[in-house]
Amino acid sequence: MARAQGFANVTVFDHPLIQHKLAYLRDEATSHRPFRALLYQIAGLMVYEATRDFPTREVEVRTPLETTVGRRLAGKVTVVPVLRAGLGMAEGVLEVMPEARVGHLGIYRDERTLQPIAYLKRLPKDLTAGPVLLVDPMLATGGSAAAAIAMLRDAGVTDLRMLCVVASPEGIRRLTALDPRLMIYAAAVDRQLNEKGYILPGLGDAGDRLYGTG
Ligand code: PRP
Ligand code: URA
Repeated sequence: MARAQGFANVTVFDHPLIQHKLAYLRDEATSHRPFRALLYQIAGLMVYEATRDFPTREVEVRTPLETTVGRRLAGKVTVVPVLRAGLGMAEGVLEVMPEARVGHLGIYRDERTLQPIAYLKRLPKDLTAGPVLLVDPMLATGGSAAAAIAMLRDAGVTDLRMLCVVASPEGIRRLTALDPRLMIYAAAVDRQLNEKGYILPGLGDAGDRLYGTG
């Protein structure tokens, strides 16, 4: 785990297992079935670090032998995938934190204007009750994430972390300027965007690769 150079609020996962899986994820020869499994696995690995400072509270536990003190998560954790591709990460996060609630945000970007189009919002009511993990494998122009973050902040979320697999410097700068409190976790910060708003070297269209719709 390392701070991304020049970005104080970005944690980059230099863990060998994550980098190993990311290289397969990027490979154009990886079809939707292994792509789905890899995205799930990477999200599951990232969640350990992204939750490291989650608040906990002491609880009394009766073992078969005596009473002891343990710790439980203090708040209600919510995972919020940005549809479609975020769903592939949410599954991996839920494997590790099955008690987490799930809120859904449907957002796609218009291919021509690159502006985010929001079409679905289903969030738990009391989003202030604990940390929220926003998950989307791609942070490109940052338009989709900015729209998602605005909806979550409007709903009162204070502890907000974004997990993505590949981030662009442009997207990170945009989100940081918009929301300096946001913590971003990424498996890689890539070089740049191309003229169509795709991340280079990136991995292509994450939703299409995940669901075999390309
Ligand atoms: C992808 C990706 C992000 C968005 C990132 O979704 O999953 O949500 O693009 O791009 P941005 O940072 O420039 O907004 P897409 O728009 O392809 O939606 P889809 O997966 O539903 O097809
Ligand atoms: N959305 C994707 O799925 N991939 C990119 O490279 C940019 C946006």
